[in-house]
Amino acid sequence: MTAKLNVNIDHVATIREARKTIEPSIITAAVVCEQAGAHGITVHIRQDRRHIQDRDIAILREVVTTYLNVEMATTAAMIKIAVDYKPDAVSLVPENPNEITTEGGLDVAGNYENVRTAIAALKDAGIFASVFVDPDERQIEAAGRAGAQQIELCTAEYAELTLSARAAHGAGLQKAQAEIERIKNASVLAKNHGLIVAAGHGLTYRNVAALAAIPEISEFNIGHNIISRAVFVGLYKAVEEMLEVIR
Ligand code: PXP
Repeated sequence: MTAKLNVNIDHVATIREARKTIEPSIITAAVVCEQAGAHGITVHIRQDRRHIQDRDIAILREVVTTYLNVEMATTAAMIKIAVDYKPDAVSLVPENPNEITTEGGLDVAGNYENVRTAIAALKDAGIFASVFVDPDERQIEAAGRAGAQQIELCTAEYAELTLSARAAHGAGLQKAQAEIERIKNASVLAKNHGLIVAAGHGLTYRNVAALAAIPEISEFNIGHNIISRAVFVGLYKAVEEMLEVIR
């Protein structure tokens, strides 16, 4: 079955917050993505609130009719926001204060009790619990033991290897193929642990097809590349085109 696409609309809020004003509206963005065929909307509420604000979560919860996935750090304050607003899903991600974007998967094995407690609270509130991890056996097993229902595999390494045209040749190509193999093996392992498999980070119109061919991956979360393309072709068309590439 073709994997689903959740569009991450954080960067619409990034533009709004650049002026601390009311536009562009992430609510309009969410509706346009849904109308273009996106299966869900993803946002990351960061502790520094650099883009998505608490109020955005409240309104998105009212407006999004497909699937609302909220990424957040594993802190008590964040879990309270989730329990209060009840998105369909929460993806637990690591967060470093000065990072430009999420830098890799969550160290579930190293923060096991914290993650297990957060997942239990989410599930108690009826929220689907996902954990963002590197394609790493130890982390996937820990996520399964901690009660996660889904893992989202971090594709940052793959994204880095496929960023430039040069990467599509020679040693770069071999490295990218090895990373695809690592993601494939991690997907099979996660499936064997009874976990649903999502993937995301740095995926583009150019590099997503190879991962869309992995049958175990049932969902992609893609933001920056879609919003970047939307600047030139419009959001509706940008989403349609990404859906087409995934298909
Ligand atoms: N998945 C997770 C867990 C993320 O943190 C992000 C970035 O917020 C994404 C997917 C989307 O990454 P990108 O914006 O590079 O497509």
